[in-house]
Amino acid sequence: MGIEVVVEGLTKAFGRHVVWRDVTLTLPAGEVSVLLGPSGTGKTVFLKSLVRLVQPDAGRVVVDGVDTVTCRERQLYRARRLFGVMFQDGALFGSLNLYDNIAFPLREHTRMTEAQIRQIVLTKMEMVGLTGEEHKFPGEISGGMRKRAGLARALVLDPQIILCDEPDSGLDPVRTAYLSQLLIDLNAEIDATILIVTHDIQIARTVPDNIGMLYRGGLVMFGPREVLLTSDDPVITQFVNGRRIGPIGMSEEKDEADIAAGHAGHAGQAGQAQQAEPAGNGGARPGAPPPALVPQLEPSPGLPERQALRRRRARMLDMLATLPPRAQEAITASFGPQQSGNRP
Ligand SMILES: Nc1ncnc2c1ncn2[C@@H]1O[C@H](COP(=O)(O)OP(=O)(O)OP(=O)(O)O)[C@@H](O)[C@H]1O
Ligand SMILES: [Mg+2]
Repeated sequence: MGIEVVVEGLTKAFGRHVVWRDVTLTLPAGEVSVLLGPSGTGKTVFLKSLVRLVQPDAGRVVVDGVDTVTCRERQLYRARRLFGVMFQDGALFGSLNLYDNIAFPLREHTRMTEAQIRQIVLTKMEMVGLTGEEHKFPGEISGGMRKRAGLARALVLDPQIILCDEPDSGLDPVRTAYLSQLLIDLNAEIDATILIVTHDIQIARTVPDNIGMLYRGGLVMFGPREVLLTSDDPVITQFVNGRRIGPIGMSEEKDEADIAAGHAGHAGQAGQAQQAEPAGNGGARPGAPPPALVPQLEPSPGLPERQALRRRRARMLDMLATLPPRAQEAITASFGPQQSGNRP
């Protein structure tokens, strides 16, 4: 069953460089969330902070009653077992073949026999499409295969919380679509809480229940997918539409230089962006109709319904009145016509 992850006031700096400050969000139990953000905004540092592979400077991360930021090593060791982490670079051991890489957490954390381990490893390898590649070494396979091996390894301990750092990078569009479906199917099967860090807009539009975005040292927003996907905030629309022109610069360095030089922030640059933007891409204009929400992926045929959906529906009804009108409309529409009477 899914476990919620409560993050409160989390702050991390390396020396004088504050990566992000005062990040507060809750990953709802069993729901799928996506964290977006330009390169260098600290998405990877955030994932690692949840399991204290990076030590945050302030704040709390509460999982199953334990604050992973401050708890003792023994509690941390137990808390970490709830997590399966798929790292951005796969983080495989170069000297071990794929089989031994994927078996590693089982040998490290359990007393299973080799026969039991073998069954789990082969099942997970099949799940991510790596059957027959057991004896290859990380250096001999493609980046996409390393990614999938990293995912298989993240899954062997049946984690209740799955963290995926850019699962799509290095994958072709077909593999990315396949992986998106795999994550939704996993969620339906084991009700795991999932956080995906990605740049992939297609994933952001089709996979998660919730979306957040890191930008310029903080969390710009975190909430139901309908809120971010119908937002007219210039930073969000630029990112979600993959536009070159807008408040987000080529690199965080440039962004920081802009801030230091006292250049116009968000709003001024967004005005400029609207003029330069070709017609037909209207999401950035306040008052323009929001881009149509595409439906969220559903589990593959034969799988159970996602348990999170029922809980989410109750959560949405509770918070509906606090959301922007477009998000309210989109959420109400997603409940189907018979539910429209629930609108406040
Ligand atoms: N161990 C470290 N020591 C010092 N600085 C670090 C360390 N790890 C990360 N940083 C810095 O923290 C910032 C955020 O890095 P992070 O890797 O989390 O970005 P990201 O959002 O994941 O980027 P990308 O989308 O390119 O993967 C960067 O400026 C990076 O240089
Ligand atoms: Mg990263």
